[in-house]
Amino acid sequence: MAVNVVIMAAGKGTRMKSALPKVLHRLAGVSLLQHVLDASAGLGAARTVVVTGHGAPEVEAAVAAPPNAPGIVCVRQMPQLGTGHAVQQALPALDDANAVTLILNGDVPLIRSATARALVEACGGARLALLTIELADASGYGRIVRDGGAGAPIRAIVEHKDASAAQRGIREIYTGIMAAPTRLLRRWVMALRDDNAQREFYLTDIVAMAVAEGVPVVGSAAPSETEVLGVNSPVQLADLERRLQRARAEALMEAGVRLADPARFDLRGTLACGSDVEIDIGCLFEGAVTLGDGVRVGAHCCIKDARIESGAVIHPYTHIDGARVGAGALIGPYARLRPGADLGAAVHIGNFVEVKNSTLAAGAKANHLAYLGDATVGERVNYGAGSITANYDGANKHRSVIGNDVHVGSNCVLVAPIVIGDGATIGAGSTIGRDAPAGQLTVARARQASIAGWKRPQKATAPKG
Ligand code: UD1
Ligand code: MG
Repeated sequence: MAVNVVIMAAGKGTRMKSALPKVLHRLAGVSLLQHVLDASAGLGAARTVVVTGHGAPEVEAAVAAPPNAPGIVCVRQMPQLGTGHAVQQALPALDDANAVTLILNGDVPLIRSATARALVEACGGARLALLTIELADASGYGRIVRDGGAGAPIRAIVEHKDASAAQRGIREIYTGIMAAPTRLLRRWVMALRDDNAQREFYLTDIVAMAVAEGVPVVGSAAPSETEVLGVNSPVQLADLERRLQRARAEALMEAGVRLADPARFDLRGTLACGSDVEIDIGCLFEGAVTLGDGVRVGAHCCIKDARIESGAVIHPYTHIDGARVGAGALIGPYARLRPGADLGAAVHIGNFVEVKNSTLAAGAKANHLAYLGDATVGERVNYGAGSITANYDGANKHRSVIGNDVHVGSNCVLVAPIVIGDGATIGAGSTIGRDAPAGQLTVARARQASIAGWKRPQKATAPKG
């Protein structure tokens, strides 16, 4: 069934105490609003309308940016006179050819497409369908008022501030999400009044209108509380973050991934894992990450947009961004792989080694305190402690090409552009500014000298008197 989606995102979010509009705060690395837009896209909505108000320019820019499809309509609500008033602003952008209009909240991020789809089906273009849930503490929420006990017909939604003492005892609440027949919604929303405790146009008043007209009102229970929790404060945002991360951790564990502690695991993107993957505590994964069979990730690693092939071991405190790590490689602890690092099988990268835009062929090693930038490194190269590629002349970047089986001693500077031939050895402490031939020892450092009979200077003794 074709659907319009209205996402209400005009509210201020006062309790966030932030200059950033509430719906742009991030949950698992993605804005609250983007989570809702993703759910809406998953629903295959024919038309999506976002109601903006506070921080409208920023929110509208976010809506217009990838990964969102072009064509999402933003309408401004100025000033904000309630949820009914918000939907009034969206009416001109709705397409009546889409029989159902689904109302979502920009600050209720974890609604799943499947749940929204079920609500749309419950509406079917003929009924008013409300997503509800029972809460132990329902205070602050709109209560679902029925003609009798549970399951009896719904009569109205009464907002907390307008509810009687008896109504405040109701634990079944409206989640803020509904699906309505588009043509009826149009008429009902235009007839709203603000004669209530908050002097607002309540969208929820359309329930009583539907009942009065004999249009069936159906309540559909949300499958989980997490899906319908809203974000109003940093505490609620953090609570939702942990719930989402817990769910992601559990899904990975169900698939066989061994997480040392699901409470100390964060995924802000996608993580595809082979079999027998182990992830120690405190790791953060961002973007699209793939871990092959038997990969082990040590504690407190940050891994973003990377492919780690089977059997590789990432030791603690390693940062990887935009890199590939070959099968059986050993990385870290405290290593940094930057974008364009492409490491072959069984490569070893040790502590305080930085690799950027460089290819290391199978078996190459850089085990201590080194920099490889814009380098092509051959097989079985041993790159000594403290050595660096001087790849930047202050204006341009240049390449270093290091052949197979090269040994670069400790504390060398390779001044790029430079080529080190296969099997060459570079003596420790050399600054290499010209190409080094294959198979030879190249040394470029001052000769060592010892001066016999040399005396250390003495402090001058001050004259007496
Ligand atoms: C609303 C419901 C309440 C429900 C609760 C669930 C109404 C009248 N009440 O109450 O029954 O239990 O959500 O969380 O709908 N917004 C606008 N423009 C406005 C006002 C609000 O875009 O003028 C947006 C807000 O940014 C937010 C959403 O609508 O995303 C809900 O508004 P909010 O003020 O939080 O409504 P509640 O009082 O919580
Ligand atoms: Mg609210």
